[in-house]
Amino acid sequence: MPKPQQDAVTALLEEVSHQEQPQPAAAKADLRGKGAIVTGAATGIGRATALEFARRGCGVAFNYVELPGRDVAVQAAMTEAILKSLNVPVYCDRCDVRDLEEVERFVRAAQQAIGGVHILVNNAGISRDGALWRTDTTAWHDVVETNLTGAFHMIRAVAPIFRAQHYGKIVNVTSIQAIKPGFGVANYAASKAGLIGLTHAAAVELGPANVNVNAVAPGFVKTELTEHLSEELVARARGQTPLGRLGEPDDVAQIIVFLCSDAARHITGEIVRVDGGQALS
Ligand SMILES: NC(=O)c1ccc[n+]([C@@H]2O[C@H](COP(=O)([O-])OP(=O)(O)OC[C@H]3O[C@@H](n4cnc5c(N)ncnc54)[C@H](O)[C@@H]3O)[C@@H](O)[C@H]2O)c1
Repeated sequence: MPKPQQDAVTALLEEVSHQEQPQPAAAKADLRGKGAIVTGAATGIGRATALEFARRGCGVAFNYVELPGRDVAVQAAMTEAILKSLNVPVYCDRCDVRDLEEVERFVRAAQQAIGGVHILVNNAGISRDGALWRTDTTAWHDVVETNLTGAFHMIRAVAPIFRAQHYGKIVNVTSIQAIKPGFGVANYAASKAGLIGLTHAAAVELGPANVNVNAVAPGFVKTELTEHLSEELVARARGQTPLGRLGEPDDVAQIIVFLCSDAARHITGEIVRVDGGQALS
C-alpha cells in the first residue's frame, strides 16, 4: 500500500478506536437492563412487540381494557404467562389510557415492578368505522380519546422519568389511514393524523433530554382488529400492496423494537411506514 494511503488508514483506525460511543451495529439487539411499557399489549401488534422486547432481555409492563365481543383479559393473562417464561420482569394490569389518573398510577406501579422505564410504545387503539355523516359524537370521542389523548396521557406520565434520567425512547403506533384514508374512517384517520403531529411535537420538546420520539404507520395487519373486515376489503388491501402480502404483527414489532434500540439513536420525529408499500398505490 502506498505510504499516504497507509497513513490515512492508520489515522482512521485510530479515530474509530477513540470513539466514546459504541457503533450502532454493536449496540443493536441487546435491551437487557431496560424497561418498556407497551400499551394494549394483550393482543395483536402490542403483544408481538412485548414479546420481542422480552426476547431481547427487556422488562415489560403492559396494560389493556376489555373490548366488546373480545376476550382481552384472557389474552392478557396468556401474554403475561409467555412473557414470564422468557425470564424478564413483567407487570400487567387493567388501565384505561383515556384516564390520566389511571395512567399515572399504572406508570408508577410499572416503574417499581420492572425496575425502571426507558421505553414507551403507544400501541393501544380502537376503530369505530362508519360514513362521516353517520358518525355520532360518541364514536368520534371514543376513537380520538383512545388513540390520541391516550398517547398524550402516557407521554405526559413518562416524560418526567425520561427527562430526569436523560434517556428515553417513544414509539407511537399510527396508521397509513392518517396519510391515505379509505372510506368510513374519518374519526380513526383524524386520531392517527393527530398522533403524527404529537410525534413531531414530542420529538422537538423531548429531544434535548435525549429522548427519541418516532412513529410507525402500519398498513393492513392481520389481527383481531381487522378480522371482522369483509373478504373483499382484505383482498383489496392485498391487491393494493406492491409486495403482495398482508402484514403480520411481527413485521411491525421488529421495526418498533429497532426504533427503541440504540442502533436508531439518531432517528427522531420520523414516521416509518410498515405497509409493504400499500400507501403508494
Ligand atoms: N391491524 C391493523 O391493520 C392496523 C393497521 C394500522 C394501525 N394499527 C394500530 O395498531 C394498534 C394495535 O392494533 P391491533 O391490530 O393489534 O388490534 P387489537 O384490537 O388486537 O389491539 C388493540 C389493543 O388496545 C387495547 N385498548 C383499546 N382501548 C384501550 C384503552 N382505552 N386503554 C388501554 N388499552 C386499550 C385493547 O385492549 C387491545 O388489546 C392500534 O393502535 C391500531 O390502530 C393496526
